[in-house]
Amino acid sequence: MCGIVGYIGKPPVVQTLLDCLGRLEYRGYDSAGIAVVNGRGIQVRKRVGKIKELVASIQQHPFEGTSGIAHSRWATHGLPTEANAHPHTDCRGSLAIVHNGIIENYAALKARLQANGHRFRSKTDTEVIAHLVEDYAKRLPVAQAFRRALKELRGSYAVCLIAKQDPQRIYGARAGSPLIVGVGDGEAFLASDVPAVLAKTRRVIYLNEGEVVELSSDGARLTTLSGAVIHRKPSTVSWDIASARKEGYDHFMLKEIFEQPSAVEQTLVNRLDAARGRIAFDRRTRAFLEKLKPNEQFVLIACGTAYHAGLVGEYMLEELARVPVDVDLASEFRYRGPMLTRDTTVIAITQSGETADTLAGVRLAKEQGAKVLSICNVMGASIPRESDAVMYTHAGPEIAVASTKAYTSQLSALYLLTLYLAKARGALSAVRWRSLVRQLSHIPSLVERSLRAEPLIKEIAKSYAGARDFYYLGRRYNYPSALEGALKLKEICPSIHAEGYAAGEMKHGPISLIRRGWPVVFLATDSPVYEKVVSNIEEVRARKGDCIVIASEGDQRIRRYATHLIPVPKTEELFSPIVAAAPLQLLAYHIAKLNRCDIDQPPNLAKSVTVE
Ligand code: G6P
Repeated sequence: MCGIVGYIGKPPVVQTLLDCLGRLEYRGYDSAGIAVVNGRGIQVRKRVGKIKELVASIQQHPFEGTSGIAHSRWATHGLPTEANAHPHTDCRGSLAIVHNGIIENYAALKARLQANGHRFRSKTDTEVIAHLVEDYAKRLPVAQAFRRALKELRGSYAVCLIAKQDPQRIYGARAGSPLIVGVGDGEAFLASDVPAVLAKTRRVIYLNEGEVVELSSDGARLTTLSGAVIHRKPSTVSWDIASARKEGYDHFMLKEIFEQPSAVEQTLVNRLDAARGRIAFDRRTRAFLEKLKPNEQFVLIACGTAYHAGLVGEYMLEELARVPVDVDLASEFRYRGPMLTRDTTVIAITQSGETADTLAGVRLAKEQGAKVLSICNVMGASIPRESDAVMYTHAGPEIAVASTKAYTSQLSALYLLTLYLAKARGALSAVRWRSLVRQLSHIPSLVERSLRAEPLIKEIAKSYAGARDFYYLGRRYNYPSALEGALKLKEICPSIHAEGYAAGEMKHGPISLIRRGWPVVFLATDSPVYEKVVSNIEEVRARKGDCIVIASEGDQRIRRYATHLIPVPKTEELFSPIVAAAPLQLLAYHIAKLNRCDIDQPPNLAKSVTVE
């Protein structure tokens, strides 16, 4: 959702900005723009549509600069038009701004600025920042004018600024939306996310809330909004550029699906010692978990796919660790007036660590005295930084909008947490606990095995590429799998309507639509509710629906009921969602591919939803 880049350093500045912006394409956007400072002042170019439109326009009419900013916009205030695309300039075109987030008090600011004679050209909330800075810059140096303007903003922002009178600097600031600084050799970057700068540098400074940065080719100077200097050294990112490239795969999504065995392994490694029967966490997380009360109440909050991981977490934490758990969509949690106490642990699950609703949920939890543990993939993101303890999933960068490896690594983190708590609370016998730990250590290879179904799934996809409605049904641990399978398909194949239901709910509505050839994907792996799922399959068959059944390897009986059968490794029920994930993802992927969908960047969706 909105990608920001800033660069100062070596020529060609425009090319570097475009390269970096291209690496943020995955965030989802509908227009793009760039602004540079050069001897002629500030030059701006914007285009509606993909970054390639902007690139083509610059190739036709090139320009260069000493420093610059660039932006991919996901429209919030105002249609995706050239006028509304960023960068935005002040009245005289002497400074330019790019922004991610929402300025909540923009209407009041705009009215005031208009009354003072400022002329606005767009319908965006962002443009007020340019005019505000312009106002203050009449009597203050740019750095001070920028900080004064920022102090007036309410809402969320990551913002970058270039100014004609200060061509050797670019400025950035953040509050609520992500912004990182990349420190190179004689060059410096600003970006919404690490992959933008990975090809250039792995030395990164994560800006905190309310921090302002001034970049020159010599490096970065951090201050507070009041101008007090902050000293922070860059940290080195462990990801490399290879992990942010497609490497021969047609899409990032496919690459990330196939990365799952190693992503899951990365979540487990260093934490799970199956040989010695031990689960260990870093010092901070261990200290956090050790302090939990016997009557601790857990609330899992998340959005999208991470919410589905949370739903699986609820089953395992309650059943195996015997702790009380609620799961909430973060967007509901923050508005439902939750009753939290000091004995509540809120577990925030998030790939990006920047999802606005999840972050707001974390803040609400802390305000009410609850503790926060986050499960996150992106190091240094806002949510882990505001949590009392963090379990990083270490799945590597996830570029495709539809989440795949982040999901299975979140599940892996939840398995670790569940088994850790189960042991701490004596909720399982030693024999059973050891057996589950041993099985967990085999999960990466079982996920690998489930990927072998790809050729079969590709064939099945051919039969249903033309279908326009799908149901996904499962029970218990695989009810969330049904939701996730349907979400994957509707995310990446917008022409298809897909719904996930608890199979037991089918008779309460969904069944009424089933007719000949209606595809229903069933999760029918080995479990105590297997027979009940088989009954649901029969009910669909009786109405001439088609049943695509994901079942445990070796299940002969199910063949009779399935129109198509996708076998997955046989596991304990709690591990079945993680082995079923890849076939569900692959089915969505191949159906979307046959429908020629924009798989990595589906229309209207964003990877990281940083506005409410
Ligand atoms: C967006 C993404 C989803 C993701 C959700 C939550 O909707 O497209 O893939 O599951 O946000 O994101 P998070 O980063 O908090 O896991």
